[in-house]
Amino acid sequence: MTDFKRTLITTALPYANGPIHIGHLAGVYVPADIYARYLRLKNEDVLLIGGSDEHGVPITLKAKNEGITPQDVVDKFHRIIKKSFKDFGISFDVYSRTSAEIHHKTASEFFKKMYDQGQFVEKTSEQYFDEENQQFLADRYIIGTCPKCGFEKAYGDQCESCGTSLSPTELINPTSMISGNQPVLKKTKHWYLPLDQYEPWLREWILEGHKEWKSNVYGQCKSWIDSGLQPRAVTRDLEWGVPVPVEDAKGKVLYVWFDAPIGYISATRELTPDWEKYWKDPETRLLHFIGKDNIVFHCIIFPSMLKAEGTFNLPDNVPANEFLNLENDKISTSRNWAVWLHEYLEEFPGKEDVLKYVLTANAPETKDNDFTWKDFQARNNNELVAILGNFVNRALVLTNKYFDGKVPARGELTSYDRETLTAISTIKAEVEKSIDSFRFREALKNAMDLARLGNKYLADEEPWKVFKTDPKRVETILNICLQITANLTIALEPFLPFSMEKLRGFLNFGKQEWGKLGDSDLLAASHQVNVPELLFEKIDDSAIEQQLQKLFDTRKANEMLEAKANPVKKNIEFDDFGKMDIRVGTVIEAEKVAKTKKLLKLKIDTGIDKRTVISGIAEYYKPENLIGRQVSILVNLAPKKLRGIESQGMILCAENADGTLSIVSPDQKVKNGSEVK
Ligand code: 2FM
Ligand code: ZN
Repeated sequence: MTDFKRTLITTALPYANGPIHIGHLAGVYVPADIYARYLRLKNEDVLLIGGSDEHGVPITLKAKNEGITPQDVVDKFHRIIKKSFKDFGISFDVYSRTSAEIHHKTASEFFKKMYDQGQFVEKTSEQYFDEENQQFLADRYIIGTCPKCGFEKAYGDQCESCGTSLSPTELINPTSMISGNQPVLKKTKHWYLPLDQYEPWLREWILEGHKEWKSNVYGQCKSWIDSGLQPRAVTRDLEWGVPVPVEDAKGKVLYVWFDAPIGYISATRELTPDWEKYWKDPETRLLHFIGKDNIVFHCIIFPSMLKAEGTFNLPDNVPANEFLNLENDKISTSRNWAVWLHEYLEEFPGKEDVLKYVLTANAPETKDNDFTWKDFQARNNNELVAILGNFVNRALVLTNKYFDGKVPARGELTSYDRETLTAISTIKAEVEKSIDSFRFREALKNAMDLARLGNKYLADEEPWKVFKTDPKRVETILNICLQITANLTIALEPFLPFSMEKLRGFLNFGKQEWGKLGDSDLLAASHQVNVPELLFEKIDDSAIEQQLQKLFDTRKANEMLEAKANPVKKNIEFDDFGKMDIRVGTVIEAEKVAKTKKLLKLKIDTGIDKRTVISGIAEYYKPENLIGRQVSILVNLAPKKLRGIESQGMILCAENADGTLSIVSPDQKVKNGSEVK
């Protein structure tokens, strides 16, 4: 497997406009840290790179709203984020930041080299400009009416109601979200990375050359490439960022997604003068640990940049994870729906490893997963305490009790002893197989199986009973238990580094290299162990209830805010309501509208006729699950063409605060054509 000399691991740079939460940890930093620790234990040459992503429009807006500078914003959160990582033991070799001088220099040089090589396409276009604030507006900061469906709060890049991709100039009544004024169009020049030209190469490199990538990653790349790549602007009209290092570019900076991944290079450069060895030597393996929302940037855009620049390695693998939800709801910074790391540590001091354990055991490796406080408690109490902690504690306590803390020697072996020793010897290959293919939850389970095995062996052998009749036999039993314990300190070291350090202290045993795993003579006879403390403590119901209460309070506060933000509309007369003809109909056909993410084409039996309706619910309903369902449909809405298809009416949906849609249906079957009034 190792046909490389060293590994460079990068972790997505979190935006420095908020603290970090369990979703970040589960998706990116915990798996990257496990992997880095594992390679270090194997004495491999590895660097774990991190840093804060400190550019981009949201940071400038946050600064504006708070009346401080963008630098103030990022200084504050960089400090908080860096501390959280340190507290959780994420073992970065360097944790840098993109407002650092070295980064500006590196990103600038990178752009300049591509520019000098003629790798960009220059294009002048008209873009919206906010005259009051004297600034061009990013697409997301312009809202207006969707030309397709009439939704009044469509963004400059997309209508969230009908799913249509838009450009800001298509909006009716565009408004600047910054000043609230109508923006004006103004000419501006930008540099584009012609991604379309890289398509054949990307096809070859990813679709042919990297079939081993995780299926979620490969699938997303394929779908991007298949839907046709467009040139991407890599500069923006903004004051905050890395200035575009060419003449004639005043007031322009590199697009945040252009400079951020270069941050990995800058950080390595900050760490070591030998940085080029890690980036350019073909015997170095480059791995990007990221969440699924970053796949296109790390698999398509950044590699195209690296390829264009010409002297850097391309990523060997991008083991991206899916998302972690919290108590069945999407984690959201703006809705404060998260478990913040700095708060967790205040509330559960000393329990860093517990959180890391739960996040790994339940990692969103192949699908989105849910973090619940009940599961957190159960995994702590039933696994860390009842299996791992209980086993090592009993092994150490009994050794102290019967043998004054001296490791007894093994005597004659039973077949059960031999079986147990064999299990120790196979653990290394099992854990390695999983970690090497980035299956960390499976690797953790394999490692914990050794503790399970030890626990069972001890319970079956009952040395506390045997001692009365056959103390010699107990020497063998405890020797085997202690060898298992010593092996656990190696197998679990990448996952639970704080706890394994503690356990090594109980064992009076130094840190071992990975190669020693599987050895059933790690502890020599007569080696003196210490009197142990508890490795893990039970978490009681009240601690969990407190957390649930905290989330409940957050939900309540959000609901109140949402009610305020979505006030009741002006009163209308009954006649106004009476103008709407809403009927109950049944879906008889349903299919996705090609090349759209959100639209479904439905054929509805309205009792009056059978008609086609386009509805923006594709993200929430599978077409096949809709057939036969009754829906409410506004039948006298003027027909409108959406994506070339005439939509004859509108399906009524309830919209949750997070924008998810839920069809409004009668609560029992009624005749098609029944009026809703
Ligand atoms: O999605 C994010 O949070 C980005 N700040 C990740 C950047 S990763 C890399 F390119 F720096
Ligand atoms: Zn729309």
